[in-house]
Amino acid sequence: MPPTHTAQSEGPSGYREAVELEFAEATKRYPGADSPAVDGLSLTVPAGEICVFVGPSGCGKTTAMRMVNRMIDISSGDILVGGRSVKDRDVDELRREIGYVIQQIGLFPHRTIADNIATVPRLLGWDRPKINARVEELLDLIGLPQDMSKRYPAQLSGGQRQRVGVARALAADPPLMLMDEPFGAIDPINRERLQNEFLRLQAEIRKTIVFVTHDIDEAIKMGDRIAILQVGGKLAQYATPSEILLHPANEFVEDFVGADRALKRLALLRVSDIELGPSNGGPSIRDTALVRDALSDLLQHGALHGNVVDSGGRTVGGISMEALARLAKA
Ligand SMILES: Nc1ncnc2c1ncn2[C@@H]1O[C@H](COP(=O)(O)OP(=O)(O)OP(=O)(O)O)[C@@H](O)[C@H]1O
Ligand SMILES: [Mg+2]
Repeated sequence: MPPTHTAQSEGPSGYREAVELEFAEATKRYPGADSPAVDGLSLTVPAGEICVFVGPSGCGKTTAMRMVNRMIDISSGDILVGGRSVKDRDVDELRREIGYVIQQIGLFPHRTIADNIATVPRLLGWDRPKINARVEELLDLIGLPQDMSKRYPAQLSGGQRQRVGVARALAADPPLMLMDEPFGAIDPINRERLQNEFLRLQAEIRKTIVFVTHDIDEAIKMGDRIAILQVGGKLAQYATPSEILLHPANEFVEDFVGADRALKRLALLRVSDIELGPSNGGPSIRDTALVRDALSDLLQHGALHGNVVDSGGRTVGGISMEALARLAKA
């Protein structure tokens, strides 16, 4: 049975309303360190959005994330979940409300997949039927067959384990999810598949998500907004992917997003998003294609024009190399 979309706290399939997350001058100084690991971080993640923390190794991504569920204490400033300071919360209660996916997945090796997914519901004292229903529902949601629930983590592939990690974090239906390099240890092909699956899942469940990666391409793909951090835990820029690609705030961001930022921007747009000219013939390009793929098509055909068609094969306009070059420069 497909999950319902109502925001309710009852029943295994009730999705709780996502919450806003706010960092307010949040700072972490580790004892003995000369400079802060996270320095006066201020940003707001609107409810139901994915915020990606990205930046070079050691810039404070994990530290910033772990202050949210108080696995690391905040030195000064504050973090608010749903408008309430995390400092005023009971730590256990707070953590049960926040799904956490760690980089190495961290499944319990001697527990079955079903028992792993049921970890938090069991802590919350749900009854057996409710837990079983939730496990069943989550296996469906992450696209694993029901009979995998009796296996142990070692009997799954890396990508399957990763999905179980996501299911476990979702089990008690947390309004907020923290994901630290969740797809870090996975090969590029499966990584791309998991990214796509996760975006589909998020379209359905609409959680507030903090997603850490050091890969700018993953950040651009996954983020509604991206926070780029510099070493020393300073926020270099917080904006939508296209804003960051179009207007990098400083040289650090410009270097970090890479010299091909014009091309990366074209991967954010679909042909139907751009202004089309009259058709001058050329290879057929679907209106739903990514602009970057349309560009590759033209290059492959050695064509200067493409004929844009809709799902019924009807011509809806044309694109030209010239127009794409203008777009990339805009
Ligand atoms: N427990 C600790 N005690 C002292 N310093 C720490 C501690 N944990 C992290 N640091 C330091 O704080 C800084 C930020 O570390 P953090 O783990 O947040 O970085 P990160 O951005 O997640 O890096 P990576 O991409 O390598 O995972 C680093 O300089 C790190 O050495
Ligand atoms: Mg880290």
